[in-house]
Amino acid sequence: MAESETRLNNWTHVVHPAALAPLALLVWDALTGRLTVNPIQDLTQRTGYAAVILLILSLGCTPLSVVTGWKRIIALRRPLGLYGFLYATLHMLVFTALDFGLNLALIVQEIAEKRYILVGTLALLILALLALTSTKGWQRRLGRNWKRLHRLAYLAAPLALIHYAWAQKSDIRQPLLLGAAVALLLMLRLPPLRRRIETWRRALVARRQPALHGHATVGEARRSDGG
Ligand code: HEM
Repeated sequence: MAESETRLNNWTHVVHPAALAPLALLVWDALTGRLTVNPIQDLTQRTGYAAVILLILSLGCTPLSVVTGWKRIIALRRPLGLYGFLYATLHMLVFTALDFGLNLALIVQEIAEKRYILVGTLALLILALLALTSTKGWQRRLGRNWKRLHRLAYLAAPLALIHYAWAQKSDIRQPLLLGAAVALLLMLRLPPLRRRIETWRRALVARRQPALHGHATVGEARRSDGG
């Protein structure tokens, strides 16, 4: 196995435990009575927050690879997105099962009445579609349309953040901050900006390479001189 591939596998080994840690902590807190006085709200908030962070991290993989030139980080996009979907599903389950006792009529009424829940549901439906079609089989079946379909991720993240901001009763500083991060990540994907960054990076690498090459030549010369 190539060295870079081994390094990537090490990263995927970090992603799984790191993404599952909030869930493990949540289960531990629930079992040991460490949730807040409003346990349903605590569960809703913690799962919702984990979902948002993982979705943003998944969205950040491509821009990070453009800026750093580290292509293999793209492979982390899928596990991060799937974990984001997992937490969003748990978040929705806490709301529908624990808060509303799976009463479908009441749930539908709540979704129709509260705009932030409607927007959250829309974001979740998009994530479900993306998770379902994220396999190699679906990638093959959908061909060029797969990429087009998966551009919906750029819509799901802003919707999730609008939902987050609207769900907040007063202080919306945090969703605004995360919204700014998402806006920046989406901007970095714009083809003209992306091309410019890639050109800068290549120029930087090219400028450093002759210097490194030069050092090696001096070193080689010394070695060959016996110095
Ligand atoms: C991608 C999908 C979703 C994400 C990322 C998400 C994320 C969040 C976040 C971050 C919060 C704020 C937590 C806080 O106060 O710190 C929140 C609140 C909330 N979400 Fe979602 N959500 C999603 C979908 C849904 C869905 C589908 C439902 C219900 C059907 C839902 C129901 C709620 C409720 C009821 C609250 C308010 C909790 C409170 O009273 O504090 N969310 N969500």
